[in-house]
Amino acid sequence: MKGILLAGGSGTRLYPLTRVTSKQLLPIYDKPMIFYPLSTLMLAGIQDVLIISTPKDQGRFRSLLGDGSQFGMRFSYAQQARPAGIAEAFLIAEDYLAGEPAALILGDNIFYGGYFSRNLSQAVENAAQGFATIFAYPVPDPSRFGIVEFDADLNVLSLEEKPERPKSNYCVTGLYFYDGRVCDFARQVRPSPRGELEITDLNKLYLAADALKVQLFGRGFAWMDTGTMDSLLDASVFVQSIQKHQGLVISAPEEIAFRKGWIDRAALLAAADAYGASPYGAYLKRVAEGEVLYH
Ligand code: G1P
Repeated sequence: MKGILLAGGSGTRLYPLTRVTSKQLLPIYDKPMIFYPLSTLMLAGIQDVLIISTPKDQGRFRSLLGDGSQFGMRFSYAQQARPAGIAEAFLIAEDYLAGEPAALILGDNIFYGGYFSRNLSQAVENAAQGFATIFAYPVPDPSRFGIVEFDADLNVLSLEEKPERPKSNYCVTGLYFYDGRVCDFARQVRPSPRGELEITDLNKLYLAADALKVQLFGRGFAWMDTGTMDSLLDASVFVQSIQKHQGLVISAPEEIAFRKGWIDRAALLAAADAYGASPYGAYLKRVAEGEVLYH
């Protein structure tokens, strides 16, 4: 399975913060936002990732993330010239995917919680069996999101993008797993009234084909999209609080790569050194020295 990390968009909602840099490079507490969705793809076991950004910002993503070898991964880059919708990612990525199953994550989505890796494994397995998987999370303001309605057995009943009268309070988060047919389905999606190729319309095609599964994130799980000033600050405060209380860093790609065996201890120490005197670098050093235990 390959991954797509969508880090496009003009980010005008965050002006002037995003006048000269991409939203996905802004800090969430101690690391750039893009480290969080990247970590999610890594936790799903994905080592090949296509990073899609605007032409203007691509150079910055390349200088931050390079070819991915420092994480034992392989990164490729592509451009989305203007924000024409999330589903366009699959038109851009068609050659890259070459018919393989794919996970797509939005560059401003942060996931954190226990058993997350188990959820991800299930989604990877679903994709291998010809199913798409979406993840639902309860929100207080469902009209702002894609919304999924489902029955007691978790059968999806309906999907709606930013409905005026939501049929449920479960939002569809910005993480999607698809089987090898995804580009064929994406080519069938037509622009919505707001002129975008909606990810919800792609998911509806999977629903119509009886090939859409939903998994729930409930109490104790944190999902945040960080597209507004307040959510940006909230996410930073959340990460700071968890890290301070547990002494474990959230979404450190080097740590995940090391624990998965994608890089060795020497590479981890080299990465730690390269981060200089930062607390992040010091943490990676402690991980390399076996001082950070977790279950
Ligand atoms: C997009 C999707 C929406 C989803 C949301 C999650 O919304 O269109 O279905 O619930 O991401 O972050 P947008 O960020 O484009 O408003």
